[in-house]
Amino acid sequence: MEARKAPRLTTADGRPIGDNQNALTAGPRGPLLIQDVQLLEQIQHFNRERIPERVVHAKGSGAYGTFTVTNDVTRYTKAAFLSEVGKQTEVFVRFSTVAGERGAADAERDVRGFAVKFYTEEGNFDLVGNNTPVFFVRDPYKFQMFIHSQKRHPKTNLRDPDMQWDFWSLCPESLHQVTILFSDRGIPASYRHMNGYGSHTYSMYNDRGELFWVKFHFKTQQGIKCLTDEEAARLIGEDRETHQRDLYEAIERGDYPRWTLYIQVMTPEQAENFRWNPFDLTKVWPHAEFPLIEVGVLELNRNPENYFAEVEQAAFKPSAFVPGIGPSPDKMLQARLMSYADAHRYRLGVNYQQLKVNRPRCPVHHYQRDGFMAQIEGSGHPNYFPNSIPGSPQDDPIYKEPAWHLGEVIVDRYDSRKDHDDYTQAGNLYRLFDEGQKDRLARAIAASLGQARLEVQKRQLGHFYRADVDYGRRVARALGFDPAAIEAELGIDASVAG
Ligand code: NDP
Ligand code: HEM
Repeated sequence: MEARKAPRLTTADGRPIGDNQNALTAGPRGPLLIQDVQLLEQIQHFNRERIPERVVHAKGSGAYGTFTVTNDVTRYTKAAFLSEVGKQTEVFVRFSTVAGERGAADAERDVRGFAVKFYTEEGNFDLVGNNTPVFFVRDPYKFQMFIHSQKRHPKTNLRDPDMQWDFWSLCPESLHQVTILFSDRGIPASYRHMNGYGSHTYSMYNDRGELFWVKFHFKTQQGIKCLTDEEAARLIGEDRETHQRDLYEAIERGDYPRWTLYIQVMTPEQAENFRWNPFDLTKVWPHAEFPLIEVGVLELNRNPENYFAEVEQAAFKPSAFVPGIGPSPDKMLQARLMSYADAHRYRLGVNYQQLKVNRPRCPVHHYQRDGFMAQIEGSGHPNYFPNSIPGSPQDDPIYKEPAWHLGEVIVDRYDSRKDHDDYTQAGNLYRLFDEGQKDRLARAIAASLGQARLEVQKRQLGHFYRADVDYGRRVARALGFDPAAIEAELGIDASVAG
């Protein structure tokens, strides 16, 4: 038999298709038959091909690449992917414009998004930045209103300079960013010819738990190139996808774009004495005072195979940190830590992290379960914590973030069980029961607890004893234990009656 060259066409369920051009009809002129399930699948899948676009940064381009460490920054961070010079990490990057919809022209005057996902061995680290080192507002309360002013007027459905300038003129904290936006760098000639900035202040901590405030800068190795308004207008008239085309074609021809990553570092002491709020997103840290420290090189060298699956479904979030890198008190960043994952769950669904482009390239073990489109995670361990099931995922204190000392306030994970009395009130309640109630309680508990593992029964008995010795004894008897033996085993001092 002749070898097939083209793959066999099938339905999405895998059934080979015999005729992919003609609907199944009762006679050549119709009507259609509902049993033409191939046709139904095509119609119905098509009707569901659109998902909500990103509420901002809807138009974008993406590519895979590598990040290579070129300088030792281990005195600032214990991040494993930055642990040695020469180390490489796979990345996915998405560039975007902010205000336009998914079909917007690329060469518009607008801020550009510069979002980088590092697939590290300790989870994904997303640096979701822009091509500007600052932003229009410093309080997240103003972000949604700011975006409304930049998008379409609700009545005219037009972009409206009056709305834009009305907002800006009432929010002078926007002036720094407005100056950059309307400067010669306001329309990048391509995504390859612009810098990227983390913009916010982030934190880094090393393996001794020392904390530093940092800012991230990606400087283009292609050089900055920009368009004038006239050049942009002409280009848009000819081609609305200039930046997508430029990035895609550069990578296809092997002309891989590169950026050098730098950090600026500020110690907590310097932060206290800095003349501006170091966590104010409308301010830069002057290079002369906080020089750029080289970290590594980002190279983009692989186009996605499927734009929708990989670029449209990419989900970046500023809350994706790895050990050694964390947030700062910046109010805008703090709001973003919540906003993005919420947006992804709306736009892509609750299991967006299981999509291939978003999936960490390291083992993932957690206690979340189910939800739409859950993939088989290959683990039979229970979905609650704490648990005493051998082999269940456990937290490891070496990955705890260092505490922040912000003046009088210490930001830390405080043990909610420490210094709490969990027994007296439960015992008080037990003691006001009459004999009948006590017996029924013990029997009801035993009927359920008796089905648990012996280890669990004994652990729980210890709690009943601590609330009231009689309480413990009664449940022990109802479970069929010899109270004296179990008290000896649990170390209960039976002379201390509750
Ligand atoms: P520096 O002179 O040390 O740094 C100036 C920076 O401005 C350089 O990074 C340069 O980038 C960048 N730059 C040059 N021309 C433009 C432009 N038309 N639009 C935007 N950026 C430009 O001074 P400071 O560190 O004191 O910063 C002064 C101002 O420069 C800031 O208020 C800010 O607006 C801008 N800037 C500062 C950055 C910072 O982190 N300090 C980062 C980016 C901009 P390049 O070397 O690529 O030309
Ligand atoms: C996208 C919220 C500020 C950069 C988004 C999205 C939301 C959002 C909801 C869409 C996410 C999605 O559907 O995938 C916010 C809020 C902000 C804020 C609430 C402030 C309080 C900023 C700042 C920057 C930034 C300051 C840059 C420094 C980006 C980028 C994207 C994005 C690059 C697109 C990411 C991608 O390519 O998928 N933002 N944003 N945002 N935002 Fe923000």
